[in-house]
Amino acid sequence: MSASEVPDAFHHVVRPAAMPGSPPLVLLHGTGGDETELLPFALTLSPGSAVLAIRGRVSEQGKLRFFPRLADGVFDEDAVLRHAAQLARFITAARELYGLAPPIAVGYSNGANVAAAILQQHEAVFAGAVLLRAVNPLRAEPRASLRGTPILLIAGASDPIAPPGLSEDLAATLRNQGAETSFRTLTCGHALTDEDAESGREWLRA
Ligand code: MLT
Repeated sequence: MSASEVPDAFHHVVRPAAMPGSPPLVLLHGTGGDETELLPFALTLSPGSAVLAIRGRVSEQGKLRFFPRLADGVFDEDAVLRHAAQLARFITAARELYGLAPPIAVGYSNGANVAAAILQQHEAVFAGAVLLRAVNPLRAEPRASLRGTPILLIAGASDPIAPPGLSEDLAATLRNQGAETSFRTLTCGHALTDEDAESGREWLRA
């Protein structure tokens, strides 16, 4: 099977592991980004890891995302559920194709939000997650058990798009599903900082 034969294929890049045993990372970019956006972040987070970096295929005035939205922070839940299910299926098929161990999701903004939707609705897609500037795009009851799944959420203290309070609510939802969540707030806004990558790296090491 070639990458284009993966059912419901998303455009993506794959980098093999430089250090066997490092957890694979699935990179999910923010609105207006693409599959290259988080590659430098992933290198700091875990330089030895295999990487599957995926491009969102929903366009909002030319800016790529993983699901459509009605307005800033206003979500169409049916669309979120549908797009999260398609992405979950793709990740599972791609893992099999490339022989990847259970991966850690690394999502930023819209990419973190779609990862949060998958973590709530689809079991065993991710072995863990780093959710950067995330909010919960769903009000639906979570269906998946996340027993023992390590999840780090990092918020920016002055982020108007993913305010720390909303990120913390998402952390509580994931904790109620059984995840081992860690939550950090950095002195910054919505944009990623070097401290995000350093915090992620420390967390992954631990
Ligand atoms: C979203 O739509 O997922 C969030 O508002 C974050 C964003 O992409 O701006």
